[in-house]
Amino acid sequence: MKVIAFLGSPRKDGNTELLLNEAIKGIKVFGSVVQVFNLNLMKISPCQDCGGCDETGRCIVEDEMSQIYNAIKTADRIILASPIFFFGLSAQAKIMIDRCQAFWCEKYLLKKPIPSGEYGRKGLLLLVGGMEKEAGIKCSEATAKAFFRTISVPEHKTLSFLGFNTKSAILRHPSALKDAYEAGRNLVKI
Ligand SMILES: Cc1cc2nc3c(=O)[nH]c(=O)nc-3n(C[C@H](O)[C@H](O)[C@H](O)COP(=O)(O)O)c2cc1C
Repeated sequence: MKVIAFLGSPRKDGNTELLLNEAIKGIKVFGSVVQVFNLNLMKISPCQDCGGCDETGRCIVEDEMSQIYNAIKTADRIILASPIFFFGLSAQAKIMIDRCQAFWCEKYLLKKPIPSGEYGRKGLLLLVGGMEKEAGIKCSEATAKAFFRTISVPEHKTLSFLGFNTKSAILRHPSALKDAYEAGRNLVKI
């Protein structure tokens, strides 16, 4: 089973990365390998709304997003992990998502959704916010849902934590790491 993960936090060893690493440990129990894309380290331009993908479903911008297009097409499980920034997903995550407009064209204009493969396609959304404001989860969830639907991932689970601001503060949560581990495990369990 092919699993890919998008890390949307720029903070090394931050709360999002800690949660993602635990989810990956849970996934590895079943022997699956996880390919992680650390979006903050990648050279990905924002969507230019140039219409270049309208008729082909292929983005004409050549940058490191091309690795991601191929990975998304062939993955069975997809994890999106992001901190909540200004009540939404991080810019790093959002830039990658906007570039998935090429998949939107392929699916809705050309009527060619990504095939579901042997195991079906499932997703996991991991979110961490520093404030105790549910709006951050709601807004991030809405964008993530549109992302998953566009890349033909019909179902996903969400694990979210609020009130964790400082680096590694999530370690103080009584069950967050275990919850992430279980979420990873359940993601690949058949
Ligand atoms: C630019 C920026 C904007 C933020 N906006 C929000 C917000 O709207 N809501 C919230 O709950 N936390 C917000 N935070 C706090 C982060 O979500 C929080 O610190 C989180 O733990 C960061 O995760 P990380 O350690 O994985 O980077 C913001 C932090 C930054 C740097």
